[in-house]
Amino acid sequence: MYTLKKFHADSLLRDEKRFRSFYDAVPLSRQQKVDRIKDPETKAVSLGVGMLIHEMAESFHIRETDIITNEYGKPMVAGGGPPYFNVSHKHLWAVIAVSKRGDIGVDIESVGLYRPKMAERYFTPNEVRWLNDIRDENKRRYEFYKMWTMKEAYGKMTGGGLLDGLEFDTTEKFPLLRFTTQDMEDGYIVTVCERA
Ligand SMILES: CC(C)(COP(=O)(O)OP(=O)(O)OC[C@H]1O[C@@H](n2cnc3c(N)ncnc32)[C@H](O)[C@@H]1OP(=O)(O)O)[C@@H](O)C(=O)NCCC(=O)NCCS
Repeated sequence: MYTLKKFHADSLLRDEKRFRSFYDAVPLSRQQKVDRIKDPETKAVSLGVGMLIHEMAESFHIRETDIITNEYGKPMVAGGGPPYFNVSHKHLWAVIAVSKRGDIGVDIESVGLYRPKMAERYFTPNEVRWLNDIRDENKRRYEFYKMWTMKEAYGKMTGGGLLDGLEFDTTEKFPLLRFTTQDMEDGYIVTVCERA
């Protein structure tokens, strides 16, 4: 069981006061991250991510100084959770998945064109075969992005990142893992990976 919260950062692009109030609420580490980003949309969504983490910390009564990152960049509560959480962002969308039970990973993507060369390069032979067997083009491109989010969410659950995700074969049986994919507005999909 997990909760998923999402935030669309367009208001931060349009409303300077709101941007400032979010900026003042997040910890110095997030402020510095936001300061380093030049692109306005990426800046806004990074602040949105910071705010989602801030609100999660507040609701669990933990200090944000107790949130550390592992050697691969995964943010987590020092000494282990609960809460267990993970964040992802794409364009102006930011999401956070939070669990009281155990490690969790989340990934958001925008469903675009099928990218056969990317599949060949990054997916396992079983995954490429499985995708190429799908006749319906719309289904194939949806499954391609779903697969991508599953691999990323898995790597973000383990904390190892994309390298773990690329090794993970989504066509195999995985009774110890639970994946949940949900469609969002505007063609975005989010996948959460938890240990079952
Ligand atoms: C984690 C990773 C898959 C994210 O890729 P992405 O699709 O570009 O980004 P997403 O929007 O889904 O997620 C970004 C968020 O994931 C979190 N994150 C970063 N590294 C993570 C990891 N290893 N595991 C889980 N979450 C991670 C961060 O909170 C980040 O948001 P923030 O930078 O605004 O705080 C990718 O960056 C990766 O593989 N990182 C590992 C890199 C590595 O191996 N570094 C070795 C140290 S040199």
